[in-house]
Amino acid sequence: MKLEKNPFIDGPVVEGDDYCQRRKMEERILAKLESGHNLALIGDRRIGKTSTAHHVIDGMRGNHKVDIDFYHVMDSSDIAEAIIDACKRVLDKVWDSKKVLDFASRLSPKLEVSESGGLSLGVAAQGQEYKKTLNVAFEFLEETIKRTNGKVIILFDEFQAIKEVKNGDAILKYMRGKIQKFPRISFMYVGSIRHEMDHIFRDQTSPFYKQAEIIYFEHIEADEFYEFISERFQNKKIALKREVYDYLYQICYGITGDIQTFCRVAFDSLEKSMTLDFEAFFDVLDIIYKNEQKYFKGVLEGKDLTKIQKNLLIQLAPLQAQENIKLFGKDFQKVIGVKSPGAVTNALNALEKKEYVYKSDEKYFFANPFFKEWVLDHRFLIHATAGTLSAGSAISGTRLDFGYRQRMIKVVK
Ligand SMILES: Nc1ncnc2c1ncn2[C@@H]1O[C@H](COP(=O)(O)OP(=O)(O)OP(=O)(O)O)[C@@H](O)[C@H]1O
Ligand SMILES: [Mg+2]
Repeated sequence: MKLEKNPFIDGPVVEGDDYCQRRKMEERILAKLESGHNLALIGDRRIGKTSTAHHVIDGMRGNHKVDIDFYHVMDSSDIAEAIIDACKRVLDKVWDSKKVLDFASRLSPKLEVSESGGLSLGVAAQGQEYKKTLNVAFEFLEETIKRTNGKVIILFDEFQAIKEVKNGDAILKYMRGKIQKFPRISFMYVGSIRHEMDHIFRDQTSPFYKQAEIIYFEHIEADEFYEFISERFQNKKIALKREVYDYLYQICYGITGDIQTFCRVAFDSLEKSMTLDFEAFFDVLDIIYKNEQKYFKGVLEGKDLTKIQKNLLIQLAPLQAQENIKLFGKDFQKVIGVKSPGAVTNALNALEKKEYVYKSDEKYFFANPFFKEWVLDHRFLIHATAGTLSAGSAISGTRLDFGYRQRMIKVVK
């Protein structure tokens, strides 16, 4: 039997046919870039920032893209190398690659050329103070701008990572000084941790204060994405019910990457020509639980979180709306086992730092919405054992026993 290729992608940047149009967002970004503005694109994790940033820039004909990714930068030489690497990729296209290496060899500190032709800061250069290492990177950037006649967009992805690097604030200040020398070039800064990006571009004391216009990345349009997804399910003649999609969109808080995760599992596990109704939906959810259960249990039983943090996580699961909930009220404190609002804040901060939750518009969301669903479906049992939640305690049971019927009734009503 011929296996259908799974059309759902849930991890890497998507492009071409795998990319669902987000017209409103794209138009807003394009308008800024075309008028030569610098832009900060800020949004939740896995919502599609990187994919859309590339989609828009790649669609601007006649422009080159310097694609600098700060994901995983640990120090200033990583930052410098990320910039050099991105510039070299553009220079190799518009210039003789031997000349690129000649140019590189004249810079100080010295760069090393690997067998594959990549450039890196030699061991001796890595210890140099950040200004020297970054200076080489900006010489590269300047040359790239020159060789492309200024027809270039500079994209910094995961820009907020600089804040985590030693001397981060000084590095930002240094970079601001350099970037200001290119007033005609559009710089685009993309970042996922909202308050750190906010801090970089909105805090009066930050070197990047007012250096870019901010666009907050919005959730994908529910109707457009429904069409996109339904079409892909049609490869296996699976009919996705609209109300099921709406429910999926809601439990995933509209996060594109997570909706795709569900669809990828559904496409693999559902039979051809099936209807994806609520029954099938919960079956797929069960498969996701089975795949991830070990991790979920590990979080609630392991030592990464304190008992208070675990309690808080469990309590947060049903609070999706959070509108009328006084997170810091006395009752809430009692349930999670603390005696002051400050202790709740500390626990929330710890959960956020460990990336179990993230904050958006003053609300807290699970970083993994399927973990939240799992907690909801198992909460009666988890509650029963909450007092003894510790390494080795058993959390078992299935959704069928604990949450399934109640939820089905709610949904169907
Ligand atoms: N326009 C789109 N069409 C279809 N799927 C998308 C789109 N944008 C994002 N996705 C889905 O979201 C996933 C993550 O996309 P992307 O890396 O662009 O998001 P991001 O916001 O940059 O994420 P991160 O916070 O990890 O940097 C993709 O693998 C894909 O599943
Ligand atoms: Mg990204």
